[in-house]
Amino acid sequence: GLTRPLLGFSWRNYSVKYDNITPKINEKIGRNIFLKPNHPINIIKTLVEQHFLKSQPDFKVFDSFHPKVSTKQNFDDLLIPLDHVSRGPSDTYYYDENTVLRTHTTAHQVHLIKDGHKAFLVTGDVYRRDEIDATHYPVFHQMDGVKVFKQGDQKDSGTETLEKHVELELKKDLEGVVRAIFGADSQIRWNVEYFPFTDPSFELEVYFNDHWMEVLGCGVIRSEILKNTGYDTSEYVGYAFGIGLERLAMKVFEIPDIRLFWSQDNRFLSQFKNGEFTKFKSYSKYPACYKDISFWTPSEYNDNSFYELVRDVAGDLVETVKIVDEFKHPKTQRVSKCFRINYRSMDRSLSNEEVDQLQWVVRERVAKELMVELR
Ligand code: PHE
Repeated sequence: GLTRPLLGFSWRNYSVKYDNITPKINEKIGRNIFLKPNHPINIIKTLVEQHFLKSQPDFKVFDSFHPKVSTKQNFDDLLIPLDHVSRGPSDTYYYDENTVLRTHTTAHQVHLIKDGHKAFLVTGDVYRRDEIDATHYPVFHQMDGVKVFKQGDQKDSGTETLEKHVELELKKDLEGVVRAIFGADSQIRWNVEYFPFTDPSFELEVYFNDHWMEVLGCGVIRSEILKNTGYDTSEYVGYAFGIGLERLAMKVFEIPDIRLFWSQDNRFLSQFKNGEFTKFKSYSKYPACYKDISFWTPSEYNDNSFYELVRDVAGDLVETVKIVDEFKHPKTQRVSKCFRINYRSMDRSLSNEEVDQLQWVVRERVAKELMVELR
C-alpha cells in the first residue's frame, strides 16, 4: 500500500490524484528519441555503451523496457521509504495507486538482477512532474548500470575487502566514462551523496566551462537489496550508477534548451552525427512573449499541478514559468501567487493572438481545475 502524500490531496483536483498522466505526457511514450541514430541523446547512449563493452564485453545492454512500472519496482524494491516525497502524485505520474511512469531507470535494477544478470546497462525515458525552465522537462533519459562481484574478485587487485574493491572498480569505470566524453585531461571530483538504495553513495562532478557539474549518482548496492534478489551477501557485492543523459548532452553539444531534444525540425536534427561531438548552432531565436497570472491558492494546491496544466495547454511553446510574487494575506492567511509564463516557439514566430488565446485557456482551466481564485 501507498501512504497518502503529506500535503493536500483531493479527488476533485485532477492533477494530484492517482491518475495524473495528461495527454501531452502520453504522447511522449513510445517516441523513443533516445533510440534514433544521430540524435544527441542516442550519441551519448551509444558512446557510454561502447565504452563499457570495449573493455568489459560481458555487459548486457537493455533499452526497450516500457516506462510503465509498478510502485514496487520504482520504489519498494529500492528501499525508498513510504513517506519519501518522490512517491507523491505531485512529483510522480500515476496510472493507478500501484502503477507509475518510472521516475528513474533504477526501477529495472532488481528484476534484472533477479533474472540472473550480473553486469548490465539499462537506458530509457523517465518521467517526473517538475518546474518549467531550460533544464527541466517532464520526460528525460537515464542510463543505469549494475555490476555484481564475487568474493575472490579482489585478489589480484591487492585490495583487502570485496566492498572496497567494488567501490574502487565503480570509481575507475565511471571516471573512464566521463573522460571518454569530456576528454582524458578533464578535472573531476567525487562527493559523498545519499540514495536509499546504495551505501556508500557518491556523485561524480566534472569541471566544465568554469563550473563543477554533477554528472551521475552511484554507490555500492545495499546488501538488503542483493539479499532480496537471492544472493548470499557474504559472497557477493554489487555497484550501481545512474547517469542523466540530457544534462550531459546539453553540455557536450551546447544545446541551450531541453525542449530542443524533442524538436522534429531538420535544422536541429541534421546537425548531429553518431560518434561526433559537434557544437549546436542556433538557427534563430524567435521572439518571446510573457504573460503574468495571479491567483489565490486553495489549501490543496501545489505548484507542480499548475506547471503541468500550463504544459498541457501550451506544450513546447512554453519556455519558462517563474514565480514573480508570493504573499500571505495577514487576516485570511490565504496565499496569493503570481507567475510569469514565458511563451516562445523553438522554430517559428508566435502571433499575439495565439499567445493571448493560450493564456486565456490557462486562466480558464486553472480556475476550474485547480480551483484557484484568479485576481
Ligand atoms: N536513480 C538515481 C537518480 O535518479 C541515480 C542512481 C542510480 C544513484 C543508481 C545510485 C545508484 O538520481
